[in-house]
Amino acid sequence: MPQFLLVTDLDNTLIGDNEATLNLIEHLLPHRDRFYLFYATGRNFDSVAHLLGFFQLLTHRPLLTPDYLIASVGTAIYHRSYPEPGWTKYIDRDWQRDKIAHLLHNFPGLIPQSDREQNPWKLSFYLSTKDDTITVSKIGELLSANQLACHITFSHRNTLDITPLHAHKGSAILWLQQQLGISHLPTLVCGDSGNDITMYQPPFYGVIVRNAQPELLQWYSQQQSDRILLSQYDYAAAILEALHYFALL
Ligand code: GLC
Ligand code: MG
Repeated sequence: MPQFLLVTDLDNTLIGDNEATLNLIEHLLPHRDRFYLFYATGRNFDSVAHLLGFFQLLTHRPLLTPDYLIASVGTAIYHRSYPEPGWTKYIDRDWQRDKIAHLLHNFPGLIPQSDREQNPWKLSFYLSTKDDTITVSKIGELLSANQLACHITFSHRNTLDITPLHAHKGSAILWLQQQLGISHLPTLVCGDSGNDITMYQPPFYGVIVRNAQPELLQWYSQQQSDRILLSQYDYAAAILEALHYFALL
C-alpha cells in the first residue's frame, strides 16, 4: 500500500541535472510500491513525451512512470495517455476564454505564445515590459473589473498563463487525491518556478530547489512555514534531500 504521494515538476526540478535524476531514480525504484507519483508540469502531453524520450536517449534509462500526469499548468490531467474528462468538466465552470482573449488582444507588452502552447483552458503569453510584475497586476485588475474569473500564473520571469479559476497544479493535486481516496497520505511537492506556487499548500510538505526562479524565491520569502524546505541542492538532488528531511524515505 502506498504510504505517501510525491508530486514533482519536471523542467529544472526533476530534470536539469541528469546525474542527480538518475541517482534519485536509483533511491526511489526499490520503494516504487510505497508511493504514488504525479508529474506536474507546464508542458502539454506531446511535449512531456518528447522530454521523457530525450532523457532516455541521453541517459539510456527511463524516468519513473508516474501514476498521473498534470499537464499544461494544471489544465489537463492524464492517466497513462488518457485525459481525465471529469477534470475538464470541473475546471470549465465559469470559464470565459473568448472574452478574456478579446480583452487582452493588443494589451501592451503581451505576446501570445505559439498556437501549440494554447488550449481551450489555457491562454499563454510572453511578457516584454519593463516591469512585468506591474503588468501582471494590471491584467489581474482588468480581468476582475470585467468579472472574468480566472487564475493568473507568472513564471520564469516572463511567461503568463491565464487558466480557469481552479485550473492550476495545486487544485489538480487536490482533485486527484479526492478521486483516488488518498487525501490522508503525506504529500511532498517539488518545484522551481511561479507555476509551482499553488502546489505549496497546507498540509503538504514542499521543497524548493536551490536553482529556483526569482518569483518563487520571492514568494517563499513571504512565507513562514516549516513545511517548506528551501533546499541546499539543485534539481533532483533537492527532491532526495526533502524525502529524507521529511522522513518519507
Ligand atoms: C511551460 C509551457 C508554457 C507556460 C510555462 C509556464 O513552458 O509550455 O506554455 O507558459 O510552462 O507555466
Ligand atoms: Mg519547472
